[in-house]
Amino acid sequence: MKNVVILISGRGSNMQAIVNAQIAGANIAAVISNRPDAAGLAWAAERGIRTAVLDHKQFASRESFDAALIDLIDGYAPDLLVLAGFMRILTADFVNHYENRLINVHPSLLPAFTGLNTHQRAIDEGVKLAGCTVHFVTAELDHGPIIAQAAVPVLDHDTAGALAARILVQEHQLYPQAVAWFVADQLQLIDSKVSIKAAANTDAFLRSPSF
Ligand code: GAR
Repeated sequence: MKNVVILISGRGSNMQAIVNAQIAGANIAAVISNRPDAAGLAWAAERGIRTAVLDHKQFASRESFDAALIDLIDGYAPDLLVLAGFMRILTADFVNHYENRLINVHPSLLPAFTGLNTHQRAIDEGVKLAGCTVHFVTAELDHGPIIAQAAVPVLDHDTAGALAARILVQEHQLYPQAVAWFVADQLQLIDSKVSIKAAANTDAFLRSPSF
């Protein structure tokens, strides 16, 4: 059994998708939020999952918050740390502490559109494909070895909200799959690239659903 700790900042729909997937070999050891009002906390607690809050506003610096967060997380002995809408920039010390066991979902086809407002920026650029990426986290924001991606079309007259909803459906498929691969030791990092032992064909890590 591998201990999985999930960090959230808000509604936690990706966290819910991972919990609901009931991944074999995964013990959801805790759900931790940096925001006391994160809706996902109550959802997890109702299901008997341990929850904790570490409010970043109570800390004078990013470094002191991240150090306290490491202490809190390590109390749950994580094999895998999952960022699920955790809206904090992490220090290099934090990222290095969880090297090769820290993953994130980002709502764009990385390396395009790192950072915030990805959906509106994709619309403004006129790209025809948008999507989401699950990747290992490195110290550079929204970079790191890519595990899996899903593409969705950008439609005429799309709004950021409509595009976000279309991408979120794919996040909820892709992220539990990536966690399952990690837990089953199916992910191999070679030269900073991910190869998936279980993937017999590209459909496994490259989702391009038809709409
Ligand atoms: C998701 O769309 C996720 O990709 C995004 O925040 C949302 C969280 O939703 N994450 C980022 O933008 C990180 N850079 P959720 O709380 O319902 O999972």
